[in-house]
Amino acid sequence: MGKILVTGSVGQIGSDLVPALREKHGNENVIAGVHRTPPGEELKQGPVITVDVTNKSAVENVIKENDVNVIYHLVGVLSATGEKNPELAWKVNMEGLKNVLDLARDHNIERVFWPSSIAAFGPNTPRENTPQLTVMDPNTMYGVTKYAGELLCQYYFSKYGVDVRSLRYPGVISYKALPGGGTTDYSVAIFYEALKNKRYTCYLREDSTLPMMYMPDAIKGTINIMEADPSDIKCRLSYNHTAVSFSPKEITEEIKKHIPEFEISYEPDDRQKIADSWPKVIDDSEARKDWGWEHEFGLSEMTVDMIERLSAKLGIEKPF
Ligand code: SER
Repeated sequence: MGKILVTGSVGQIGSDLVPALREKHGNENVIAGVHRTPPGEELKQGPVITVDVTNKSAVENVIKENDVNVIYHLVGVLSATGEKNPELAWKVNMEGLKNVLDLARDHNIERVFWPSSIAAFGPNTPRENTPQLTVMDPNTMYGVTKYAGELLCQYYFSKYGVDVRSLRYPGVISYKALPGGGTTDYSVAIFYEALKNKRYTCYLREDSTLPMMYMPDAIKGTINIMEADPSDIKCRLSYNHTAVSFSPKEITEEIKKHIPEFEISYEPDDRQKIADSWPKVIDDSEARKDWGWEHEFGLSEMTVDMIERLSAKLGIEKPF
């Protein structure tokens, strides 16, 4: 069996995906690709390789030397960081993806996963029940790279037969690794602050509803789409993929059921404009129909699990 390479392993998704893949396929068969940020102990249970995805020959060497035949290409500069440094977002997100797709074609890589995002949508996209095929006019550099990336994936599939599959992730909530530089990051920070300080200042308005998902569902969806029969993958742009939509006010109310003293205040910053250009609720029925996507965690189940696991991680007494 060839090896699985995960780029961006120390990121929010990679920190959960690498252990999940290792449990399924064996530690030695899943290579954690890292770059600047050093890996934590957990990633060291199997092979770890330092590789810069913008360096094509470096990625090629990893593929050749390790007999890689599946790639989860997770490296990416997220929305808020991308607005601070659009050059970097373009370089990392687009050059990195093109390198991976070229190498997948040239080395007969069996399957590639690449995440798109709700950021691929824009201000003229319908914001309620956003369909999979619709107006796409992203106005952040991150969103531009995600939509261009989707088109590139579809092109490499139809022109070269590269079996690349993609999900438009919503905001993802998790307790292992922090998200870095996104617009939906508040939905993770709010739990840390509720447990540690019982107060949080949110950089989005209280009514900013966005599509969201708990990490175990994101991992399940990612692995399921990669295991699906190629004939079931009818969309080669990227699948809408969601679990719940909520606003800062709604998640606050849910947290208060367990931590009644918790208080929130709102000081919207530049990220508000980004959130305002994204859908509130996306329609992921195509993923459910084509390859059987089903989410498990709603807002209340996720809140209970996050509080339990994060209080254990932070060494804070569980509030219930
Ligand atoms: N979570 C991402 C961000 O906020 C969306 O893909 O940038």
